[in-house]
Amino acid sequence: MNKKNQQPERRNFLVQAASMLGVAVCSTALSSMLASCDYDITRPTDIANQPGIDIDLNVETSLQTVGGSIRKTYGSFNGGRNIVIIRTSETEFLVVTAVCTHQGCDINLPQSPGANLVCPCHGAQFSSATGDVLQGPASTPLRKYPWRLDSARNVLVLNPGVGSTNPEQPTAEIKIDISKEPLLQSPGGAGKLNVAPYNDSRDIIIVRRANNTFLVATAVCAHQGCDVGLPKSPGANLVCPCHGAQYSSTDGTWQPSPQTASDLRTFDSSFDTGTNILTILM
Ligand code: FES
Ligand code: FES
Repeated sequence: MNKKNQQPERRNFLVQAASMLGVAVCSTALSSMLASCDYDITRPTDIANQPGIDIDLNVETSLQTVGGSIRKTYGSFNGGRNIVIIRTSETEFLVVTAVCTHQGCDINLPQSPGANLVCPCHGAQFSSATGDVLQGPASTPLRKYPWRLDSARNVLVLNPGVGSTNPEQPTAEIKIDISKEPLLQSPGGAGKLNVAPYNDSRDIIIVRRANNTFLVATAVCAHQGCDVGLPKSPGANLVCPCHGAQYSSTDGTWQPSPQTASDLRTFDSSFDTGTNILTILM
């Protein structure tokens, strides 16, 4: 499969993956595996068709300090609408659409470092760290865009290498109908899913949090690559059976335990409570 040319399509993904790989990955025999064998995988073509955009941090003085932010358009990027860029640490940024997910007004920049993004139309508020909804009437997080910091040039690159070989950037959106997943109906529920060839054909772990968001993380232990287990009870850690490494089932971060000190790799996701669809960027 050429991921670069992959177009949006409906597919029985795991069955196709199974035939491609010669393994039976679409199984409900394992109680920990999610039931989904049929869901949408879409290459985010509106992202993929866009070349990378360089934002020179030597010029954008507002982004030179942590907490700084800008709101701008970049040609046809984001449908020609504004995006918001916030420097959340020396090396981290939040890049989101400025288009409110309620009825499409432009959200305002945070009034001070760390303050919420507020929509002037009906008062929705979003986290300036994650883009998640903190106050309605919006119910869906702001759409995030991938970025990469080119420290050598002091340039923030939007959309770097989408569809390329850079494994850190999303090449697909995976949509899962949560109403068909009994394991994910209540907070603390968790399951595994194989979305080969994504995540190097290894399982991912999906955990439902209390606030209608989900942790989506690789099941591959950051120590030596064993499959990490699901939480034994809601809120319990994810534990690796090989040498005991433990990770938070809330955010995938490493918890004091033997081996490793690295977090699980996580994937951005958003959940639409209206349609019950979980969208994962891979
Ligand atoms: S359009 Fe943003 S809160 Fe309504
Ligand atoms: S491989 Fe997971 S703790 Fe060693």
